[in-house]
Amino acid sequence: MIFQNLLTARKDRILYVTINRESKLNALNKLTLAELHACMYNAFSDPQVGGIIVTGAGTKAFVAGADISEFAEFDIDQGRELAHEGHTKVFDMIENGNKPVIAAINGFALGGGLELAMACHIRIAADTARMGLPEVTLGIIPGYGGTQRLTQLVGKGKALEMIMTADMINASEALTLGLVNHVVAPDQLLIKAEEILNKILLRAPLAIASAITAINASVRNDQNGFEVEINEFSKCFGTDDFKAGVLAFMNKQNAHFTGK
Ligand code: COA
Repeated sequence: MIFQNLLTARKDRILYVTINRESKLNALNKLTLAELHACMYNAFSDPQVGGIIVTGAGTKAFVAGADISEFAEFDIDQGRELAHEGHTKVFDMIENGNKPVIAAINGFALGGGLELAMACHIRIAADTARMGLPEVTLGIIPGYGGTQRLTQLVGKGKALEMIMTADMINASEALTLGLVNHVVAPDQLLIKAEEILNKILLRAPLAIASAITAINASVRNDQNGFEVEINEFSKCFGTDDFKAGVLAFMNKQNAHFTGK
């Protein structure tokens, strides 16, 4: 698929998605969000894709937020629609995807950019990256899940401080807070993301999908995470991968999983 604001490339089973509006610090405008939706939808259903790495074009920004110029004139209803569309079509969709998605944060991850990174399953940051949710400086609050996901990741006290002050934090502070999983030199960013993703790709794909579903259920009020875990656990027993994994263990071999 050809996109205007995304660069995509597949190497073996990894799909690289680069948000490509460098002159606007990769800000998420309507078209970019629509393309992200289409790209992720395809990736989650493409059997040739095992996992996805999302990053930003250039060295300055991962994503500097939602495109402010597009919502400058919005009213209450348009604001609701913007947030609702973003939640369902992009951010929740990524979080609930059946394949691992890693954010490689190569620079500023602000507002919708940090919200995008937080919707991904794992975050790796370059040591030059800066992160924050500065929406209150614009008279709004985070609207793509930021109030919820930041609280889940760093706890209520720190989330309140970050969102109310609008302060940016650097990569090492983000690591200390648990907002990112690893911090590396900029030239190691994709290498580290690939290293982690390649390890996950050796594991049973349907079990990975079940793990994502069960772990996501732990922070949802409309689901009992323990019940979801029982359900996902039991589903695994019906897969070829379960049989292959156990057989390989018994024979002291490495399993080759088919994702069936
Ligand atoms: N939406 C729309 N355009 C944006 C943008 C955003 N979120 N973030 C940056 N841009 C644009 C700028 O308007 C500028 O465009 P121009 O060259 O046509 O004027 C270009 O990207 C470069 O940004 P600039 O502000 O000149 O870079 P800087 O190095 O001086 O500052 C930032 C970098 C990230 C600190 C600054 O761009 C910024 O604060 N961005 C907005 C962050 C934000 O509030 N995000 C939350 C949005 S809800």
